[in-house]
Amino acid sequence: MEESIILQERQFRHFRVTPRTPVIGGWIEDFHLGDLNDEAAADLREALWHYGVLFARKQHLSFDAMKAVAWAFGDQLETHSYAPTMADRGHPEVVIIRKLQSEKAKTTTDIWHHDVTGRKHPNIMSILQADQVPFGADTMWSSMTSAYARLPDALKQLFLNIEIDHDTLYLMLRHDFGDASMSPDKIAALGEAHTHPAVIAHHATGKPCLFVGNGYVKRVHGYTAELSELILKIANEMPKIPELQVRHQWEAGDVAIWDNFATCHYGVSADIGDQLRLLHRVASWSDRVTPTAYRPDGDA
Ligand SMILES: [Fe+2]
Repeated sequence: MEESIILQERQFRHFRVTPRTPVIGGWIEDFHLGDLNDEAAADLREALWHYGVLFARKQHLSFDAMKAVAWAFGDQLETHSYAPTMADRGHPEVVIIRKLQSEKAKTTTDIWHHDVTGRKHPNIMSILQADQVPFGADTMWSSMTSAYARLPDALKQLFLNIEIDHDTLYLMLRHDFGDASMSPDKIAALGEAHTHPAVIAHHATGKPCLFVGNGYVKRVHGYTAELSELILKIANEMPKIPELQVRHQWEAGDVAIWDNFATCHYGVSADIGDQLRLLHRVASWSDRVTPTAYRPDGDA
């Protein structure tokens, strides 16, 4: 049985973190992320691995400051495969999350998912900042470390012994994503399809994380569609457990930083009328960080 940790308040060298729930999420207190130096970056990494998601109010970071936070976690900044970016202002790494409810566009975020898992090296983390977020358009995160810990032993054994096929094209077709600028042919040409273990050892903590979402996940590797769907359904119940979740009600200037391996997330698709929802995101990754299978002590 994995040791369960109840999150507590912790004082770091440059900031304090207070927990938002016993299992996931912490507020960064008394710190502006624009003042990040090497020491604070080291503390930020330690805090993120511990709390899963970090939140900070009244940040209003520049795009360069957001990128500096992302550089603290990975040696590559993500260039998204199909989302709009701030490339025309010199920031191709800044993804624009913009939606008017009246556009009746299918939202791309209201499923539990880890980001860009069709890639061999999915994002290590993301930093998301709110510019304009109407009341009700919240974001939720769920602890996949705790999800694994909650599984009965028989299901732990099941998930420890399977791999999952992730595929960006499948995400777009199944969930009816994309716009006219991104056809299925273009997505297929990216070749973003990769098989990852269903339970990974976190690259920094070594802790087991259930690494099965409901976005890019196509199939249990090597299984028939029928059996695969049943198994994925079990996995997809886990992030829905309220005790594993934290839900953020955004204010302009808020920042959320999340661990893309130990947590998954869900953008709540509330009916916000004609109001604009506008956020910006930067993510980092590394070709040295690949999801690798968790092997419990004593297991071959
Ligand atoms: Fe996402």
